[in-house]
Amino acid sequence: MNVFPTGNILGASGATSGPTPVLQVKGVTLQYKTKQHLVTATYRVSFDVYGGDRYVVLGPSGCGKSTLLKAVGGYMAPTEGEMRLKGVPVRSPGPDRMFVFQEFDQLLPWKTVKQNVMFALQASGKMRGRAAEAQAMRYIEKVNLSKFADSYPHTLSGGMKQRVAIARALAMEPDILLMDEPFAALDALTRRKMQDELLQLWADTRFTVLFVTHSIPEAVLIGNRILLLSPHPGQVKGELNSDGNDPVDPRSGVKLSDRIHEVLFADRIEEQEVVPHG
Ligand SMILES: Nc1ncnc2c1ncn2[C@@H]1O[C@H](COP(=O)(O)OP(=O)(O)OP(=O)(O)O)[C@@H](O)[C@H]1O
Ligand SMILES: [Mg+2]
Repeated sequence: MNVFPTGNILGASGATSGPTPVLQVKGVTLQYKTKQHLVTATYRVSFDVYGGDRYVVLGPSGCGKSTLLKAVGGYMAPTEGEMRLKGVPVRSPGPDRMFVFQEFDQLLPWKTVKQNVMFALQASGKMRGRAAEAQAMRYIEKVNLSKFADSYPHTLSGGMKQRVAIARALAMEPDILLMDEPFAALDALTRRKMQDELLQLWADTRFTVLFVTHSIPEAVLIGNRILLLSPHPGQVKGELNSDGNDPVDPRSGVKLSDRIHEVLFADRIEEQEVVPHG
């Protein structure tokens, strides 16, 4: 059921849509099969991400957001439906999709900031030597960490580590940046700052990002388009545009974020469905 007509909510600004989506997700069902159980993480989820979109997938814990990202990353195959990156079916991982996770330990601890950013460039064969170093420094500067290029991760704050992870991913110039609750482990003040920095970085670089969160304020701030997923198993409840300002609907007098809350939690949150298998 589409609660919100796509691209037409509260007069918010339109999506930055291009002619062909960078990412197409069509009717994707994702399941985990264990010896005893079959767990359905997402059910027939469809959406398109266009070039330059800050596309947010918003839904409660356990609705399959990380699973969806894993599948886009090529680490898990849908049991139903398909995903296409620039028109090509996703079958395996590739440097055209780079991840930033929530965890602070995603950097290699024995490498400096610069070496961490260079590593992905070199290991993928994208760049070598001086070129890789220059590219790494360019992106380290974009996340304001030039002074820390030769520092090791353990000497950095959580926010700084996340900036390195973002620089490392963006330096690869992926078709799409996949962010799984990248700021969730940060304190509230740092989280807010990082959100602003990400928007600044986007204004500077205009990358395409698929950003997963279960925070409504974060979704409204970060996304230009927001996909709402129901509780487990994740199903599309609607898609809407956001201009970052959490506008009040003049007809109902309800703020966008409150409306999202209503839609997401209108239904009773069901107990996790576990279907016997085999
Ligand atoms: N490796 C796994 N094996 C079996 N079931 C799994 C596995 N990983 C996740 N699940 C189940 O799939 C469902 C979706 O999990 P997922 O981690 O994708 O949710 P999420 O939306 O990212 O949640 P959160 O907001 O808490 O990170 C959950 O019911 C979870 O228990
Ligand atoms: Mg998750």
